[in-house]
Amino acid sequence: MNKYFNILLLFLAMSVQAVAERLTIQSKGISLVIDAEKGHEPTFVYFGPKLVSASDIQPPRSGRMGLYPAYGLNTPTDAALSVRHADGNMSTTLHVTGYDTRSESNGTITTVWLKDPVYNLSVALRYRAYRDVDMIETWAEVTNGERGTVTLTQFASGMLPIRRGDVWLSHLYGSWANEGIVAEEPLLAGQKVIANKDGVRNSHTAHAEVMFSLDGKGRENEGNVIGAALCYSGNYKLRVTTDDTEYHYFCAGINEENSAYHLKRGETFTTPPLALTFSSEGLSGVSRNFHKWGRMYKLAHGDRPRDILLNSWEGVYFDINEAGMADMMREIAGMGGELFVMDDGWFGDKYPRDNDHTSLGDWVVNKRKLPHGIDGLLHEAKKNGVKFGIWIEPEMANTLSELYERHPDWVIKASRRPEVLGRGGTQVVLDLSNPKVQDYVFYVVDNLLSRYPDIAYIKWDANMSIMNHGSQYLSVDNQSHLYIAYHRGFESVCQRIRAKFPDVVIQACASGGGRANWGVLPYFDEFWVSDNTDALQRVYMQWGTSYFFPAMVMASHISAVPNHTVFRTTSLKFRIDVAMSGRLGMEIQPKNMTAWEKNLCKKAIAEYKEIRPVVQLGDIYRLLSPYDKRGVASLMYVDEAKDKAVFYWWKTENFQNEHLPRVRMAGLNPNKLYTVRELNRIDNNPLDCEGKSYSGAYLMSQGLDMPYTHDVDYNKKSDWSSRVLYLIAR
Ligand code: DGJ
Repeated sequence: MNKYFNILLLFLAMSVQAVAERLTIQSKGISLVIDAEKGHEPTFVYFGPKLVSASDIQPPRSGRMGLYPAYGLNTPTDAALSVRHADGNMSTTLHVTGYDTRSESNGTITTVWLKDPVYNLSVALRYRAYRDVDMIETWAEVTNGERGTVTLTQFASGMLPIRRGDVWLSHLYGSWANEGIVAEEPLLAGQKVIANKDGVRNSHTAHAEVMFSLDGKGRENEGNVIGAALCYSGNYKLRVTTDDTEYHYFCAGINEENSAYHLKRGETFTTPPLALTFSSEGLSGVSRNFHKWGRMYKLAHGDRPRDILLNSWEGVYFDINEAGMADMMREIAGMGGELFVMDDGWFGDKYPRDNDHTSLGDWVVNKRKLPHGIDGLLHEAKKNGVKFGIWIEPEMANTLSELYERHPDWVIKASRRPEVLGRGGTQVVLDLSNPKVQDYVFYVVDNLLSRYPDIAYIKWDANMSIMNHGSQYLSVDNQSHLYIAYHRGFESVCQRIRAKFPDVVIQACASGGGRANWGVLPYFDEFWVSDNTDALQRVYMQWGTSYFFPAMVMASHISAVPNHTVFRTTSLKFRIDVAMSGRLGMEIQPKNMTAWEKNLCKKAIAEYKEIRPVVQLGDIYRLLSPYDKRGVASLMYVDEAKDKAVFYWWKTENFQNEHLPRVRMAGLNPNKLYTVRELNRIDNNPLDCEGKSYSGAYLMSQGLDMPYTHDVDYNKKSDWSSRVLYLIAR
């Protein structure tokens, strides 16, 4: 008996040992399982919904899939890390030396310690798992313990194998004035690469966030979907390799092109985090995971509803003057707005900023335009009961500026060549790898906010790429550090600003939506989705942007018609209804608006204040995509208690007697009764559902039919139609 008992104990000890090498990293509803056997490469086992039993694992049959494969001893496979060692050896292998997990206030950090058995190069592979949101962040810290410098030629944040089947990739692409456009494609054999090389802004043409729908083309509210977001402000590369195994290999990190990194002896290179999530509630489910995690742990002031503002740009462009600003402040206050933002054009002494050819870098008030300076504007804002915000572009200069005259050595340029010039034919990018430039950029903000503590909001713009590779600060050997050093410098400035000015609201603008990423949002409260404020195109752009970012960060403004970018004339009601699905604002010259228009905006602002907590802090359920071309697009937000919901319905085209689908709602409590109230109503008669109550079950299985046109007087008819319904549980 004893003998058998001892054998059983031995067997148990062996299996515990085996299980002990298998790490299960648990976030709220997701698990990541890895094998971390000492003396071997760590391998991927599982990523998906939280495992209910430790025995719920059938390891992948594709053989051992490296979790953070290094290049050199299995060269045909994809590598996350490639290194040239101090002695020139190009091969690396990383073996597990140990692992540990420590608790944090909001979850755990698990570290798998790796080291090359031959070289003194080690990697700490980190996994931060959040207890109360469905997110695991992973990143790598590479430490050079060798005698000399090692060169990193690839340094991904993480790698995730995804089981083949019918996996579809959803990602965002676009360009200036057309950001955040959804692309969906099946993953086929070969390689799919999504990359950015702008140097400064990284989300105009592509995004560092993706989703993988595991069961065929992504659906909004059903299906298993993995989400991934590289939290980085600079150049990135995401690649999915589909080889002859059963898996797609997703790898994400800083774009290594022209960025070989010379890691000095004793130095550690830390990659940006890659955030991974999973939902069995479709694309919208993954969006909700990103939004919740973002609001709770990433975004600046993620729990604080945003103010309703008027921005001066499309209203006056560079034509800034005291009387004009005072008028705008009075007008936005009159419509119930809470904040006024003075955009470009207020600064420059020797070179007044009258257009985009001069002055960036000279952040002094132009006294001709604003004789009473910022104090005068703040006084006016106070008088009108609104807050005041101001535009800056502190990472940039013009060659026609006093700053450039003083510090031509501060700008990015290739040595022995003239600068490549950007906007206005004179714009240049300041070299943020240079600590003196970092100090200066910090000073720009510090000086403004210290001298004028009542400035409540900064619009931080960035309108140029790194066009020419060259730092006048970095050594000849380290020129390839430019892109990385720029963003380290940028982040360090942001950290200093936030340490000193934790409360100021800062918008990330970069020629529109060039800085929509989770790398900047810890320091910024929101971003400007696009310079294109056309409401119809915004339906598409905001739809895509909402895949990864919550409504509270998506600055969405009511502007004039014909639209200044696409010249389309939409109805004011339509423009309001679209802007109200994000962070509502206005970008218009109020004095050109009729009394009726101002009244409609005033009503919309008042009603937005009622729904603001639901829109900005609630859960998104996208219902009918504009990309499906069904003639209508629709989404809704639901508060956490499922007591309040806001339903948006926008007609995206207009044909007589066309048939539009009836949109089913989602996210409600089937057992609650919701009373319907239409917001921004322009119709002469209420909707048939106005004031009526419907069960969540009915609204989710049947939806409500919307009339295809508005019931308004003949002279008010237009080819635009939209609805916003506020649902409140009785
Ligand atoms: C580009 C931004 O996207 C615009 O909103 C505006 O601020 C201009 N720059 C000002 O130059």
